[in-house]
Order: sequence, then C-alpha cells, then structure tokens
Amino acid sequence: MVSDLMKDWGTVPTLWNRRHLLGLEELSAAEITLILDQAERFRGVLTSGDRKIPLLNGKTCVNLFFENSTRTRTSFGLAARRLGIDVVEFSAATSSLSKGETIIDTAKNLEAMQIDCVVVRHSCPGTPKFLAENINSVVLNAGDGAHEHPTQGLLDILTIRQRFGTLKGLTVALVGDIAHSRTARSNIQGLKKLGANVIVCGPSTLVSRYWEEFGVECSYSLDDILNRVDVFNLLRIQFERQVVRPFPSIAEYAHLYAMNGERMQRTKKDVLIIAPGPINRGVEITPEVADGPHSAILDQVTNGVAVRMAVLWLTLARSAEY
Ligand code: CP
Repeated sequence: MVSDLMKDWGTVPTLWNRRHLLGLEELSAAEITLILDQAERFRGVLTSGDRKIPLLNGKTCVNLFFENSTRTRTSFGLAARRLGIDVVEFSAATSSLSKGETIIDTAKNLEAMQIDCVVVRHSCPGTPKFLAENINSVVLNAGDGAHEHPTQGLLDILTIRQRFGTLKGLTVALVGDIAHSRTARSNIQGLKKLGANVIVCGPSTLVSRYWEEFGVECSYSLDDILNRVDVFNLLRIQFERQVVRPFPSIAEYAHLYAMNGERMQRTKKDVLIIAPGPINRGVEITPEVADGPHSAILDQVTNGVAVRMAVLWLTLARSAEY
C-alpha cells in the first residue's frame, strides 16, 4: 500500500545537507553511498505493483534541456512524477532564448512561476553551477558539456554495486572517448572515492596521461587489459564535441577498441559490461555483447529512474526544511 510505504519511509538522513547536485567531485564517499542506498529503496518501489510514492506532492520541477536526451530527460521526468512532483518540459528550441533572452533571465522567469527545482543539461561546462549561484531553486546537473554527468555516474556505480556487492578492489575500465566524456569524469570521481581501481583506455588522442595524476591508470590497448578488468564501461565516441577526427576511421577504431564476441572470450568469466547510452552498435560495442548475458545496459536505465528519485527526494525534501 502506498500509504504504508509513505508512513514508513522516514526523513532525509542528517548526513545530506546539499541543496544542489552539481557533480560527484564535490561529494564524499559517505554522501555517494547515501544516494546509492536510497536509490536501492526507490528501485524497490519502482519494481513493486504501485511504482509510486508521492513523497513530494505539490513540488514542481522544470526539465531545462539545451542538448538532446532520451534517457536522462525521460527518467528525470518519470522519477519526479513517481514522487508526485509536477513536471514542466522546457523546450529551448521553441523558447524566447531565440529572441535573445539570457539563460539566467529564462531561469528567473521560470522561477517566478513558483517552481522548486531545475534539471539542466547544457553544452557549456559549469552552467548548473552558474544557475545555482543565481537562482533560489534546487539545481540538478543533467550533464554539462564534457564536465560531469553526476546521475549517470551514480547509476553506473549502483549497477556495479548491485552485481558485485562492493566497489572496493574492483577494476573498472572506461573505454573510448575519455577526452569528451562527462560520464567518464563522474565515474572516475565516484569510483575512486568508493575504492575501485580505474583504467582509462582508448587512442592516445582521446586518453590523456593527465589522468595518472588522479591515480587513474592509462592504457592504449584494450587487448592488453582484457583479462584483469571486472567491469568495462564502454563510452560512445562523441563526434559532436570533436573539432578534428581523433583517429583515421571508425572501422580502425572498432578494430582496436570495440568490445566484441572474440574479445569477450579473453575477459574474466564474470565480467560486467555497461554503457551509458546511446550506444553505437558496431563502433564501441557489437550487438552480440550489447544484448549478451554479461550486459547490464538496460538495467542501468531502470537504475537511472531510481537514482533520480533518490536525488530529487534528498534535495527537495531537505530544501523544504530551510
Ligand atoms: N546516458 C545519457 O545521458 O543518455 P541521454 O543523452 O539519452 O540522456
């Protein structure tokens, strides 16, 4: 029964004191674990008969997306509705931004309509922080350029934790376009804090040795690391963020870095394959691997709703107390 669930849910743990979620860089290991634990509880609600727990009835959230999205936008909207939040979908393309209105004026006008939360995706790194400094609403980062994608990092880590029980001591390889990936940055921050060993792997034009300063191993050969990795997170090549093509051809990239059936034969027996999506079949991953028994790609998507419910609840329920 929804009413029993609501009664037993409890209040936001005192550890959580943040108004916004801007990135995993600013969170402690304990805060990340708190979000993951709450997401597990919300996943239980989602997979129950009711699917709903209207803990935030009467709150209003705006999805302010300046870049395309399937998973993040839909799951933030769904997570909000599952919690009883009213959701407004803002379309940048058909808004008055085209008439020269600034993003701050846009956000302040939306806020004047008595909203409580802005979920923002923008190609410019730092946009969520800029908004958080200039408006009163809760701001949640849904991806800012190549900087961070915190809820993606959280759902990736939750999926790994569900499979292995812990992050401690696991070796997780992020393979592909590290240079342009906000998912990679959020994964590195979260995985390192929870005790995983992280390898970044890809062509030298997309993997900087700079990561070694953060205790991350760099590899330029997927074949060399296959047998010592517990989790492969296969990242899309982000052609839309690249000025020049960083390798001669897609066929050559796939030859060297695609996870395929033959490479899977050389991985650990219980290897986990994840990918943030959208996936490009035949580039970073072949269909037999994407749809195969080691893949948790669609499980990640389910976890995405649970993680976003947890983040909305923690931030909005806490901010109501201020
Ligand atoms: N993983 C992810 O952010 O997907 P979308 O771009 O579809 O939201």
